[in-house]
Amino acid sequence: MLYQRSSQLFAEAEQVIPGGVNSPVRAFRAVGGTPIFVKEAKGAYLYDEDGNKLIDYINSWGPMILGHAYEPVVNAVIERAKKGTSFGMPTALETEIAKLAVAMVPNIDKIRFVNSGTEACMSAIRLARGYTKRDKIIKFAGCYHGHSDSFLIQAGSGAVTFGTPNSPGVTQGTAKDTLLATYNDLQNVTDLFAANVNEIAAIIIEPVAGNMGCIPPAQGFLEGLRKLCDDNGALLIFDEVMTGFRLAKGGAQELFNIKADIVAFGKVIGGGLPVGAFAARNEIMNYLAPLGPVYQAGTLSGNPLAMAAGLEMLKALNNDTAIFTRLEDKTAYLETGIRKELDKAGIIYTINRTGSMISVHFDASPVTDFKSAARGDNETFKKFFHGLLKEGVYIAPSAYETWFITDALSYDDLDATIDAVGKVAVTL
Ligand SMILES: Cc1ncc(COP(=O)(O)O)c(C=O)c1O
Repeated sequence: MLYQRSSQLFAEAEQVIPGGVNSPVRAFRAVGGTPIFVKEAKGAYLYDEDGNKLIDYINSWGPMILGHAYEPVVNAVIERAKKGTSFGMPTALETEIAKLAVAMVPNIDKIRFVNSGTEACMSAIRLARGYTKRDKIIKFAGCYHGHSDSFLIQAGSGAVTFGTPNSPGVTQGTAKDTLLATYNDLQNVTDLFAANVNEIAAIIIEPVAGNMGCIPPAQGFLEGLRKLCDDNGALLIFDEVMTGFRLAKGGAQELFNIKADIVAFGKVIGGGLPVGAFAARNEIMNYLAPLGPVYQAGTLSGNPLAMAAGLEMLKALNNDTAIFTRLEDKTAYLETGIRKELDKAGIIYTINRTGSMISVHFDASPVTDFKSAARGDNETFKKFFHGLLKEGVYIAPSAYETWFITDALSYDDLDATIDAVGKVAVTL
């Protein structure tokens, strides 16, 4: 496959956009080479500026769960745009999507729409801090909750104390209120509560982690977190930006039958337009301005185009009773096929999967937290990535990302992908 035009476009972009991209992982720094510039996409396929067709396993990092250019969403956006694109005033559409989201997701009474997953998580912790009148939060190493200051905190090595910022610009003052824990290590979280009595406002977690590959919660882990929060007067925040409307209609709360106190959404909820949201029971949500003292706002929040897209997406997922089983079946089929090919080639690997989130790690041991995810062989991953790309299969350009499966994938696409893995595996 040729990437001449993408290379030219990237060189041009680098002159006027830092690193040539508007979000760092797109720059291919982790795998080397030149980012591919997309011209258009339809269903399960991307068509790039060089005329290549790729089977897409990123799907805009999650939102395109029903495939690219999904017609009901596209049509809703077009029709809505004709009537005005932003008012900064309430619309009936906002109530309609809010009602549907509240009906689909367990344990929430009210939802507030924002513009991104970052905003959703940032607002969720402000609300938790305001509601509990406590400052500290617990986050897990390797979990990503967007780029707001409180979350850009690096893991220490095992014994967790105060975090240190991992981006210049994040102050020590902010970092000291973020306590780091190890994913799937309940004792670690128990110790943090013991060392910070009545100081912890909330635990925030990706209930299935998707930002260090896909890491499912160990048996009893989420239940244990729920109990620790209850015992210590802290709130449990599920960051369902990836898992929401993907693992089940009601997300991870429904899949694992665990109640979170606040839930953050992004990605699928906007149908490919910039939307995030956070939601909780009345007593918590009523703490938000204008009802309560915790401030949160946005000029483009509840934007009519974004709400129209999100509403069509949620309606489609709500009305299709088989969608989540179909996604799971397709992803399980893919997993079986990839395993067979990697086994055949004698490759050392681990595959993690929950529903339609899946990741391949080039390491023999179980991948259960950030440390074990970081152990994977990056050189092999790079070869795997570029090998698949040559075969017309586009996975995330980083070993720390989950693959996002779309329902637009046919079994022929899955077979083609498995064949591609077979061809690449013998070269690793
Ligand atoms: C779990 C999770 N939370 C939050 C975010 C941030 O969302 P956004 O990129 O829309 O700001 C992401 C983005 O990948 C995410 O995966």
